[in-house]
Amino acid sequence: MAKLFAVKPLSALKNEAVEEGEHTLKRSLGPVNLITLGIGAIIGAGIFVLTGQAAALHAGPAVALSFIVAGITCAFAGLCYAEFASIIPIAGSAYTYGYATLGELVAWVIGWDLVLEYAFGAATVASGWSGYLVSFLEQIGLTPSPALARWTTTYGNTLYFLHGHWVSQAALPMGTPTAGLLKVHGIFDLIAFLAILAVTTILVIGIKESANLNSLIVFVKLAVVGIFLVLGIGFLMHHPHVASLNWHPFIPKSEGPGKYGFNGIVAGASSVFFAYIGFDAVSTAAQEARNPQRDMPIGILGSLVICTLLYIAVSLVLTGLVSYRSLDVADPVALGIDATGVAWGSLLVKIGAIFGLGTVMLVMLLGQSRVFFSMSRDGLLPKWASAIHPKFRTPWISNIVVGTIVAFLPALLPINKLSELVNMGTLLAFAIVSAGVWVLRVRMPDLERPFKTPLVPLVPILGVLSAVYLMANLPLLTWIVVLVWLVVGLLIYFNYSTKHSKVQRMQQQGAGQE
Ligand code: ALA
Repeated sequence: MAKLFAVKPLSALKNEAVEEGEHTLKRSLGPVNLITLGIGAIIGAGIFVLTGQAAALHAGPAVALSFIVAGITCAFAGLCYAEFASIIPIAGSAYTYGYATLGELVAWVIGWDLVLEYAFGAATVASGWSGYLVSFLEQIGLTPSPALARWTTTYGNTLYFLHGHWVSQAALPMGTPTAGLLKVHGIFDLIAFLAILAVTTILVIGIKESANLNSLIVFVKLAVVGIFLVLGIGFLMHHPHVASLNWHPFIPKSEGPGKYGFNGIVAGASSVFFAYIGFDAVSTAAQEARNPQRDMPIGILGSLVICTLLYIAVSLVLTGLVSYRSLDVADPVALGIDATGVAWGSLLVKIGAIFGLGTVMLVMLLGQSRVFFSMSRDGLLPKWASAIHPKFRTPWISNIVVGTIVAFLPALLPINKLSELVNMGTLLAFAIVSAGVWVLRVRMPDLERPFKTPLVPLVPILGVLSAVYLMANLPLLTWIVVLVWLVVGLLIYFNYSTKHSKVQRMQQQGAGQE
């Protein structure tokens, strides 16, 4: 029993952190790289796609409040991640923190659960990316033929051809008669599939190249968000009556559970939570950071604060420009900018989204392979998952295996189902990390903590409670899928990992010598 709670000694973790050489990752990232890595992971399908759905279906203009609620939840978790990342600057993120504090079994559960965040997260974004790419192609006159359109969406989804665009049934304006419209049934989202494979190739080639590309694209993405805000605010200042019409009522009257009213704001928060996911991915790059103890908290909290402010502003401007009821479309931000009357605006937003969502996939898949890298180095996964390419110095086999499997997810599953799984998996990781900070404070009060989470245990407790609260607002089916996923993980743990665990072996040797 005790071996299930075997804790990886902090000294061993610290040794790994300072290891250098051919078989380790390159230390090339500074604080600005890390903040950009965070923003690269954070701003993506959440703000570009899911905000519209959350406003239309759950919160109305009060989706800005949903962003505040979700942002507060992330702030609690972010403060806890920052403390851990400064103590244990190792590639595995929450998995590693769990191993050092709560023991091997919990660490395994987190590591396995993080697959839902990173791998499924990349898949969700690939799905949104596909939507923006098709919309962009349609705008420049390259509308897919019906035969091709079937390969741009998942099996089971029906697309209708309306005003020169392929539109999902759910996104058709209310009351549109479908009888006379051309329609096709989806087979496989080939665009999303190829997007994941392309990102995987970049990751295999190397972290330095990836980080540089990431910085460039993050700049483009921020510029697009900035232009949206400038054009939107400019328009609303000249047409204040549009804003007052669209913002009224700011909190629409409840129309049932999760639909508008206070409860709608919370349901909206559980949904837009996806928009914040990614700041913790900064911590997975700890072994590539030049000065992780100082720069990890800067990277995590800096990117979180910047994105929170941008989200609140974007959601307010978006719901001011367009009635929330018409925002349930694949490209709501482009729709918003159309309302300003600036003709090139929506094209620009689509280009920004296409590049911007690319960096999110990049960081998510980077995070995923780094978690598997750490688990494999600990003996909990087979050795190939931590094999480093002699020339590129990246965990290439892990990248290729993960990328190939992940590519099938958005090709076959719809974006909302994927994003709900991601939200559940991530909230669970947040809850465990928050609890872990408190546990470590009690068990090792004297440990050197370059960054300290304030107000412990209040902040960790609020971190756990707020994560569980948002989880409670996710559908039952999501709970069931996540539970099945965790059971599969436990079967692997008991049949493979526990037999190959290095920490367990070390402990047994220690006990044998006594
Ligand atoms: N936060 C990331 C996004 O919104 C995952 O795409």
